[in-house]
Amino acid sequence: MPAVKQLNTSSYRLLVWRIEEDVSFFSQAITLNAQEANEYSQISYEKRRLEWMAARYVQRQLCDDGLVKDEWGKPHLESQEGFVSIAHCTGYAAAIFSTQSPVGIDIEPIHDKVHRIAQKFLSEMEFNNMDALRMTEHLITSWGIKEAVYKWYGKKALSFQRNIQIQPFSLDSEHAEVLFLLNNQRIRKQVHIENLGTIILAFL
Ligand SMILES: CC(C)(COP(=O)(O)OP(=O)(O)OC[C@H]1O[C@@H](n2cnc3c(N)ncnc32)[C@H](O)[C@@H]1OP(=O)(O)O)[C@@H](O)C(=O)NCCC(=O)NCCS
Repeated sequence: MPAVKQLNTSSYRLLVWRIEEDVSFFSQAITLNAQEANEYSQISYEKRRLEWMAARYVQRQLCDDGLVKDEWGKPHLESQEGFVSIAHCTGYAAAIFSTQSPVGIDIEPIHDKVHRIAQKFLSEMEFNNMDALRMTEHLITSWGIKEAVYKWYGKKALSFQRNIQIQPFSLDSEHAEVLFLLNNQRIRKQVHIENLGTIILAFL
């Protein structure tokens, strides 16, 4: 069953898909708009073409509309009302759609490389709150949370350390509290987190 996670709530719909098909399965099922067709034509790496197309397929299952990107690369629905975010990584594609408020989603494979960049994206306080016994999982989850918040905001030029502050959280919890700090804004958000086995899902 390729759908590894599916949520339909009153405020959003979400789907995470394990990619077991080849690219033609996804491309035959959807119609790309001109901007999407142009973007796709410029992707040469086969693995990225598959992930890219799978992410559009998954997004269309939630809301059947094309995507257009703004000046920061953030995707928006072409003709329907609502908010959308997509993510993909080796073997998985994910999307979230809401009619009510901006959304952000990330899926991250669990890998050790995250240790190398931990000091760059975490503040000292966040780093000190990592669970030493589940360090890799805690770091990956923190990275996923910040990427999801980054996509929710969508306008680049953010410091993961300064603008996105994760409050101490347990890996056994379903949420993490985040403070988004920018200029004089101070926005508190709840980010949903879940370990899906080989990937961590984070969304808001
Ligand atoms: C944009 C970014 C979040 C994408 O993340 P990624 O891990 O490369 O890829 P993901 O699969 O998770 O997400 C990709 C999707 O994000 C979406 N995206 C790109 N820019 C976006 C933006 N500004 N806002 C919202 N979504 C965006 C795109 O739809 C993209 O999919 P596509 O290329 O198929 O269209 C990432 O490249 C980035 O810039 N991160 C910030 C890095 C940073 O500032 N680090 C500093 C701390 S060390």
